[in-house]
Amino acid sequence: TDRYAVLGNPVTHSKSPLIHAEFAHQTGEAMDYTAIEAPDEGFASAWQQFAAEGGRGANVTVPFKEDAFALCDTVSHRAKRAKAVNTLILGGNGRLYGDNTDGVGLARDLAYHRVVLKDKRVLIVGAGGAVRGALEPLLAETPSEVVIANRTAEKASVLASDFADLGNISGGGFDAIEGEFDLVINGTSASLAGDLPPLPEGLFAKGAWAYDMMYDVEPTVFLQWAGPRGARLLDGLGMLVEQAAESFFLWRNVRPNTVPVRETLRQSLN
Ligand code: ATR
Repeated sequence: TDRYAVLGNPVTHSKSPLIHAEFAHQTGEAMDYTAIEAPDEGFASAWQQFAAEGGRGANVTVPFKEDAFALCDTVSHRAKRAKAVNTLILGGNGRLYGDNTDGVGLARDLAYHRVVLKDKRVLIVGAGGAVRGALEPLLAETPSEVVIANRTAEKASVLASDFADLGNISGGGFDAIEGEFDLVINGTSASLAGDLPPLPEGLFAKGAWAYDMMYDVEPTVFLQWAGPRGARLLDGLGMLVEQAAESFFLWRNVRPNTVPVRETLRQSLN
């Protein structure tokens, strides 16, 4: 039985062990997957200990994705863009390979819900690690424009210029938001605190989607705000399942069916 884990802090409420247990069961892969809480300054030693005990790979979550990026011998191009690693793969030669499946997870979840990005206007709220990780796969769908709006405007404009070679992208503060959007993604951690970013009225085009990268039992404050304003609503649960599926594929070379796992996970929230 091959061993995998998710490393984070806190990590006790992580849904990843449940998701990967479902994937393993479904595909008949012999593996187990646990949650490991690493101390704040102890990511590298926690991984090394796990690897010494036979760990073959891991997911990495908050706050260790940048630490994981730094620890790897080789990283994928998408991890390099994200400056963050959420998937570790230990090679047979002992070398550590890092990838980032978060952005692909978002893109696959949008595709699952038939959200078309081609030639559409996309607003992304937030300019932290979660947004950085999502930008390359989003721009690959060739939206007409991506606007990043952030509380700290400077972070949004720096982020936009880092990705300017991949498409029509700009960044600024909330006061710079202009016009209607076909997709508005909340990538801030404001939801966690129950805060709503100060977004203007008239944000949603006809048929627009509102997507929160976070999820909870109840709709997030952002989705509660967007619903009455006419947007179709999606939370980050599908993104979580899809990023996990991509990690599973990297480890096992088998693509699990995410449809039943979406359902299991939704039920597990209650
Ligand atoms: P993550 O890795 O989850 O993206 P992060 O890198 O700390 O975390 O980024 C958090 C994001 O949420 C940032 O865009 C942050 O805005 P600032 O760059 O101005 O700090 C945003 N954020 C957090 N709390 C917020 C709040 N209460 N209102 C608006 N934005 C908030």
